[in-house]
Amino acid sequence: MISDWDNPLRDARDRRLPRIAGPSGLVIFGVTGDLSRKKLMPAVYDLANRGMLPPGFSLVGFARRDWEDQDFAQVVHDSVREHARTEFREEVWQQLAEGMRFIPGAFDDDEAFKQLRQTVDELDAARGTSGNYAFYLSVPPKFFPEVVQQLKKHGLADAPEGSWRRAVIEKPFGSDLASARELNAIVHDVFDPEQVFRIDHYLGKETVQNILALRFANQMFEPIWNRSYVDHVQITMAEDIGIGGRAGYYDGIGSARDVIQNHLLQLMALTAMEEPAAFDAASLLTEKLKVLKAVKLPEDLGKHTVRGQYAASWQGGAQVVGYLQEEGIDAGSKTDTYAAVKLNVDNRRWAGVPFYLRTGKRLGRRVTEIAVVFQRAPHSPFDSTATEELGQNAIVIRVQPDEGMTVRFGSKVPGTSMEIRDVTMDFAYGESFTESSPEAYERLILDVLLGDANLFPRHQEVEESWKILDPIEEYWDTHGKPAQYASGSWGPEEADEMLARDGRSWRRP
Ligand code: BG6
Repeated sequence: MISDWDNPLRDARDRRLPRIAGPSGLVIFGVTGDLSRKKLMPAVYDLANRGMLPPGFSLVGFARRDWEDQDFAQVVHDSVREHARTEFREEVWQQLAEGMRFIPGAFDDDEAFKQLRQTVDELDAARGTSGNYAFYLSVPPKFFPEVVQQLKKHGLADAPEGSWRRAVIEKPFGSDLASARELNAIVHDVFDPEQVFRIDHYLGKETVQNILALRFANQMFEPIWNRSYVDHVQITMAEDIGIGGRAGYYDGIGSARDVIQNHLLQLMALTAMEEPAAFDAASLLTEKLKVLKAVKLPEDLGKHTVRGQYAASWQGGAQVVGYLQEEGIDAGSKTDTYAAVKLNVDNRRWAGVPFYLRTGKRLGRRVTEIAVVFQRAPHSPFDSTATEELGQNAIVIRVQPDEGMTVRFGSKVPGTSMEIRDVTMDFAYGESFTESSPEAYERLILDVLLGDANLFPRHQEVEESWKILDPIEEYWDTHGKPAQYASGSWGPEEADEMLARDGRSWRRP
């Protein structure tokens, strides 16, 4: 009889078990911010409700508010009632609320950090958190140095024997290569690279993780996923909203730094990378980094990049303000709210296949997708009139909102003549699976507590991504202004012209 340890199936079986965090706690700095209320607090509750947190899990908030523990718990409660995905269950809430503590104080307040240290020790004793703590810096980057230094000074960054300490940081990871390096140096002065978890919430999305499943768990896609068959790739992240109340963050940063540097380049890296040796953080880093390093910018950035700004316009019968009229925006601001860039990946697989990346606010609708567009068939036995309406084959990974995948190909139109037209075949998450997707932050917080770094970009990737973007931003800084586009449109005409010059056109998702 084979013992369980010798059983070859054991490993596979274990990996299918639900992933549950061990004894641990989470400290959130900047707990009064929007991200914390809308995403982090509900995600913690949803994890608890799904049974993925240990019974003694503890949540500590740190902010400059005159709150007691129960005031903090009330704020978490309200945010959970408003934003959680799973149903509210009193018993889950009670258990979680018992582990909530609040530390009032500023980031330079030594007394507050001493109190934090005491609280962590007290929770270890009272709730069995075993010294395992993640510190979530949901604060603007200018506060990073102070917070990490304080954690170091008060002995919170060093894990006691047998336990762990981790730092979770949110973008922006700098605003160019130099500032990103500076930031990384500050964080790494206190935490080892393996202790640092950088959040790119796109990597927490199911559909984004599915890019790798699709490519590497199947046989039918990979043989055609290269320059011999692919004509070009379009990666679109469109939003219908404006900048909302985020003028302070957004102005001077713009759409390319906000999302191309991180989300879109990560999507591109996952789409273009080679198969990793294993599905682990180190192997994924190796492969993604190879893609980012192989990216080559077109020589004429004026022809192959476009930036835009939404103008005041009428949309659906209502007047929508332009970017320059948004509250808090300088009337002469040159910040881009739309950006399109053409990138080449100079390696054997992708030589000559352009990757077009675009993003924008106040576009036609909210949609993120990756479209791999194939070359036309090298030869057609049909009369040219038969294929007049036939487009190019495409595989479209729909990241959101209609999560799934579409394959587009030509099919005979029913009738007595030979006429071929595009049709689509769809896979929709909602139809194929009964399991619900966790929110990206749920998945990522759980991974932090488990120490699973697969879905977190490393500092090398962040720096490589800035190396790609910096010359584009420099070019824009010294060449004119963003083109204007109407709200609800698909961006400036210049973006259409950019693709037309290459004999291609943007998809209208
Ligand atoms: C954030 C950007 O990273 O992603 C925002 O800073 C953007 O500007 C947001 O609105 C979009 O995220 P999602 O998940 O709604 O596509």
